[in-house]
Amino acid sequence: MTKVIVVIGAGSIGQAIARRVGAGKHVLLADLRIEAAEAAAKVLAEAGFATSTATVDVAQRTSVGALVANAVALGDVAGVIHAAGVSPSQAPPATILAVDLYGTALVLELFGDVIAQGGAAVVIASQSGHRLPALTADEDRALAVTPVEALLSLPMLAPDKIGDSLHAYQVSKRGNSLRVKAEAVRWARRGARVNTISPGIIMTPLAKDELSGPRGEGYRTMLALSPAGRAGTPDEVGHVGALLMGPDGAFITGSDILMDGGVTASWFYGPLAPT
Ligand SMILES: NC(=O)c1ccc[n+]([C@@H]2O[C@H](COP(=O)([O-])OP(=O)(O)OC[C@H]3O[C@@H](n4cnc5c(N)ncnc54)[C@H](O)[C@@H]3O)[C@@H](O)[C@H]2O)c1
Repeated sequence: MTKVIVVIGAGSIGQAIARRVGAGKHVLLADLRIEAAEAAAKVLAEAGFATSTATVDVAQRTSVGALVANAVALGDVAGVIHAAGVSPSQAPPATILAVDLYGTALVLELFGDVIAQGGAAVVIASQSGHRLPALTADEDRALAVTPVEALLSLPMLAPDKIGDSLHAYQVSKRGNSLRVKAEAVRWARRGARVNTISPGIIMTPLAKDELSGPRGEGYRTMLALSPAGRAGTPDEVGHVGALLMGPDGAFITGSDILMDGGVTASWFYGPLAPT
């Protein structure tokens, strides 16, 4: 039976992980923008991968459902790389919550129903989720286990509680790692694992939008004052994705791997600490 790796969000990070885990499998590349999926498929096909493409809007249940059906028809769903998202400079708070928070919960629910025995998924969260101050235990639990269709109606996500796009992004990304932690229990019943990667600034088109957007100067300072002193590369996220999805990661599930060149460390205990 063909093994299928589904890449949701065919951007730079999704592609980098796919290159590490997709050899010998069928790589189904899905994106809101079909041209992004097709461009990624062309590059991967020329590098020897078997590929196909699909359009998906992760913020729409029927659309994610159709992608699941497409993947299952191709073979065993051995891996899911969820790397679709919008950043604070790209969208208003409601869109960020719909795509980054609700969309991720939807992907975890629907692919968690079909993931193959021995399968694995990674969800790309963000260092931003680590900078958000601690939520209450009840808020953590609400983000982790509220049924997907009730998620966006949580009082903590009401427009008067979410200050701006950055806040929406931070809450969404915190929500991603909490959701993955809870879903790991359900995925284990199918013999599958699921983890989050929380990257720092990784040089991709999305990061370039941030670096040239209203928060650009802040991000440049962040890089300069971080322990690593530079941005990360998609390939570095690819290595961690390969660890989490492969046999060496067999004991890792429900985890969140922060890889940010030390930005979060510096934010709490170094020169990036807010004054
Ligand atoms: N690049 C960074 O610095 C960075 C840092 C931390 C986290 N992230 C996260 O990594 C993930 C991937 O981002 P990237 O940097 O590779 O960016 P990217 O822009 O290269 O890729 C993101 C892809 O998501 C797609 N997308 C947007 N909305 C969608 C929707 N509703 N349904 C389906 N696809 C949709 C876009 O079309 C795009 O191709 C995002 O979740 C982002 O928040 C990125």
